[in-house]
Amino acid sequence: MNAQPRRVENIATDRGVIPQYATGVVEQPWSAYSAADHQVWATLFQRQRALLPGRACSAFLDAQHALGMTPDAIPRFDQLNRHLRAATGWQLIGVEGLLPETVFFEHLAQRRFPVTWWIRRADQLDYIAEPDLFHDLFGHVPLLMNPVFADYMQAYGQGGLRAQREFGAEALLNLTRLYWYTVEFGLMREPDGLRIYGAGIVSSKGESIYSLASPAPNRIGFDLERVMRTRYRIDSYQKTYFVIDSFEQLFAATQQDFAPIYPRVAGAESVPAGGVLPGDRVHHRGTREGWPEGADA
Ligand code: PHE
Ligand code: FE
Repeated sequence: MNAQPRRVENIATDRGVIPQYATGVVEQPWSAYSAADHQVWATLFQRQRALLPGRACSAFLDAQHALGMTPDAIPRFDQLNRHLRAATGWQLIGVEGLLPETVFFEHLAQRRFPVTWWIRRADQLDYIAEPDLFHDLFGHVPLLMNPVFADYMQAYGQGGLRAQREFGAEALLNLTRLYWYTVEFGLMREPDGLRIYGAGIVSSKGESIYSLASPAPNRIGFDLERVMRTRYRIDSYQKTYFVIDSFEQLFAATQQDFAPIYPRVAGAESVPAGGVLPGDRVHHRGTREGWPEGADA
């Protein structure tokens, strides 16, 4: 893939026009994807879809199907957007990579989800340090079809903007942990057992298996303030996964006003990534087998 995508001049929003330099929005250069790019998509798509029945939550599997994602070719953002617009009003926008925090919050608050336009190389199937198209599209986009999860993502963006205005860096760190342990690495309890909904897990072969089957990590019932206090790993599988009962539970917990919560969390000690506390609702206490030493993020 060597073509450069065309930069979008500016995007219109409810609050006026956001200039391109502030958003980094690019048009998906769909015709420029090489056969090798489409092949990477096909390989990863088939590998994960074979693994996920019985592992991913049903909302994820159903939505991915409803979006018409197939292994045949890298999906076109504008085609996915038709389904998203009809279901929840979300829209995908192409980006080069990770965005400044404010810009990211601003997009989410307006129901725009930034998707990296480029896909990893064939020698990076198992791991890539930064999010690429496969992680973003395969992992994050399906749940934007779910009305409750869709509202949660928008509320997160609005909450991030508010935290920046009113509460500062410590609050933002708490929100980052919340995003990490829900949107990226969340598990859900379904009638037949634990299931994955986090994008970082469903887009990873190794962690889709590990997060549910390994005896090593803790699996602990979701508690908002506990999650906001918990450090995390960026260099390995998670030491702890937090388990929600439903998206409704997650949304309800985050609908409360965080103004009194931020100072409370700031006043409490942070919890190591692998820590277990007396008040935890422990589904599984990790054996800690194979845990890396080193510091948490
Ligand atoms: N309810 C939070 C607040 O009052 C906002 C928020 C919603 C944060 C959802 C994260 C997720 O600031
Ligand atoms: Fe992600």
